[in-house]
Amino acid sequence: CMISFPGYDTVIQELYTHNQEHVFEYWDELSGKEKKLLLDDLSSVDVSQLESLFTTACSETPAPLTYAPAAYTAVPRTAEENELYSQARRMGEEHIRNGKVAAFLVAGGQGTRLGFDGPKGAYPVGPVSGKSLFHIHGEKIRAYSKKYDTVIPWLIMTSVVNHEATVDYFTTRKYFGLRKEHVFIFPQNMIPSLDLSGKLILKNCYSLFKNPDGHGGSLTALRTSGMISEMERRGIATISYFQVDNPLVKIIDPVFIGFHVMEKADISSKGMMKTGPREKVGVFVERSDGKSGILEYSDMTEEMQDARDPKGDLVYCMGNPAIHLFSLEFIKDITSGGSLSLPYHVAKKKIEALRSGGYSEIRGYKFEKFVFDAIPLAKKTILLETVREEEFAPVKNKSGEDSVETARELMNRLSFKWLAARNIPVPDITKVVEISPLRAVEPEDLAGEVPPREKVYLD
Ligand code: UTP
Repeated sequence: CMISFPGYDTVIQELYTHNQEHVFEYWDELSGKEKKLLLDDLSSVDVSQLESLFTTACSETPAPLTYAPAAYTAVPRTAEENELYSQARRMGEEHIRNGKVAAFLVAGGQGTRLGFDGPKGAYPVGPVSGKSLFHIHGEKIRAYSKKYDTVIPWLIMTSVVNHEATVDYFTTRKYFGLRKEHVFIFPQNMIPSLDLSGKLILKNCYSLFKNPDGHGGSLTALRTSGMISEMERRGIATISYFQVDNPLVKIIDPVFIGFHVMEKADISSKGMMKTGPREKVGVFVERSDGKSGILEYSDMTEEMQDARDPKGDLVYCMGNPAIHLFSLEFIKDITSGGSLSLPYHVAKKKIEALRSGGYSEIRGYKFEKFVFDAIPLAKKTILLETVREEEFAPVKNKSGEDSVETARELMNRLSFKWLAARNIPVPDITKVVEISPLRAVEPEDLAGEVPPREKVYLD
């Protein structure tokens, strides 16, 4: 028969109605406090929504839209294009100098592939310094603030999985020299995972297994954390979005910002040439409903991936490095009244579950929202090509492809490229160079010499 608890009978009824009463498997063993914890956890869950997500996850729905490749502004080659870039840079620099830009880091992911015990941002990546991702990002923001003589607020989204550890990390390292009042760390929402038969999963006797609701949860999190109003108060107009696992990202890029401002875009994105047809990145597309968007690698047919134009170039060539600018006004607009509903994507993942009296590893569905699903909601978007080696070094895996090793090697190569651009000689003995963002955030900032050592840190 149905369990009962004062004040929670509707919640309990709802779970029985949806055949989810197994979540009360340990009910008789729980203390009064634990019963309440479980019921509070369950009250926050939308069981009908999960039911429909599960139905969608199980059905093979054909893609409702057709696509064409997105138009983009290519890396400048002609004098005219270079002039346009200079104009954009001047405009972007003015916008930054006037304190209109905030940096927004999403760091709420679980970093499962890296398998590191701690927030992914605490992972040491500096090839010489051993500095962590957070440390490198923090130094960049300090450097840009100094360069443009302004305050750049830094918004950092975490999730309950790593929130406290992230706050501790920043506190013990004194915010990497940034003023604490300009750094905002806040968690995103969580959503329950389901097992392969659509049942809720217990993490322990009195709570559900949940996962962070994807980087797409970041726009809602800006609203619920009060960050939209805080940024408005500060006169911010542009939010520069980046992900924690890319040590090369130009967090504040005057040219990109300039184009965004010039075009009055709601969302601007950077795109990079795919390395080949099978590279596992989403691509920028124009959809048949007239909207722009990104199509996930997994949603592309092989025919689409392989398509070539008459010159032999890939048709769907602009890959997504996950670097965007959002106008604050646009985020405010789409999140007003709690109405932003980006679609959920589903992935089958391993989950540590409590059932029938013991823990076991099961397979289940995790649901996540993707930030780029906001692109089709925008009236005006732009896409700017960026040179991959200058801006993209993803740290996803422990070793091999897209790992710490490849990222360190890419950082090293870029240092050499910057030194060459400045005609600064590198001694033969020197094999690894790391440039602190405090020394230079772009080659133009770089001066001085490279001392004759095998590994050199220019700070
Ligand atoms: P990924 O999708 O690569 O996930 O995140 P991840 O958590 O880093 O790693 P895996 O897949 O578990 O191995 C890309 C970026 O989006 C953020 C991550 O922190 C990273 O900066 N993210 C992802 C969130 O902020 N929240 C999420 O729910 C998911």
